[in-house]
Amino acid sequence: MSSNLTRGARHVAIIMDGNGRWAKKRHLPRAVGHQRGVEAVRTLVRAARQMGLEVLTLYAFSTENWRRPEEEVSALMGLLKRYILADLQEFVENNVRLKIIGNYKELSPDIAALLEDALVRTAGNDGTTLVVALNYGSQDEIARAAARAAAKGEVTPDSIAAELDTADLPPLDLLIRTSGEVRLSNFLLWQAAYAEMWFTEVLWPDFTPAHLEQALAEFSARERRYGGR
Ligand code: FPP
Repeated sequence: MSSNLTRGARHVAIIMDGNGRWAKKRHLPRAVGHQRGVEAVRTLVRAARQMGLEVLTLYAFSTENWRRPEEEVSALMGLLKRYILADLQEFVENNVRLKIIGNYKELSPDIAALLEDALVRTAGNDGTTLVVALNYGSQDEIARAAARAAAKGEVTPDSIAAELDTADLPPLDLLIRTSGEVRLSNFLLWQAAYAEMWFTEVLWPDFTPAHLEQALAEFSARERRYGGR
């Protein structure tokens, strides 16, 4: 189901970029930029739930992000952990289902256990699904899905799609990237086949629900053709 407030979009995904530049502009440590990034996540998840969006998918940590300095990786993991600890009860109370895509089981055992618990506790919720991409890479996801499809029989676009981490989600409608970068960075490559894209110069910590509303308004004004005419 889609609501009026979401302008017909069911599934929105965001590449949250620009935390580092946000901090640099203010002569603050990068970790502060990530911290403010989490505040933007918190506010946006609440807004998505209130507007009745079915699925919000956020790119929190890519398979490539391991190449960042150890200090930054552990700051990001710490923030993720604190966010889940702080907001899990709110998800439970407000019918938000958490879903993780990517190999989260390879994260540190305490984070993997925390996520597992959050998944179980929100599994029965049927309001907004918050999908967090963690240790996620789209090529890796497609390769894993193709291998599973091959093990079961014929390899076709449908049989691969049925094995993707996102198999149970509605199709991706709108993909947003902040901070002026115009690339997909190994995020939802398969799912983006017919998605609309919306790029903004706004740095992630400055992204507000009003920006999401603007993206959705522009999305609804576009004519989607799915290859037809
Ligand atoms: C991009 O900024 C952002 C990330 C690599 C991580 C995004 C993570 C969060 C917002 C916090 C954790 C997530 C959740 C769901 C709680 P950048 O560091 O690449 O910025 P830059 O390109 O300006 O350096």
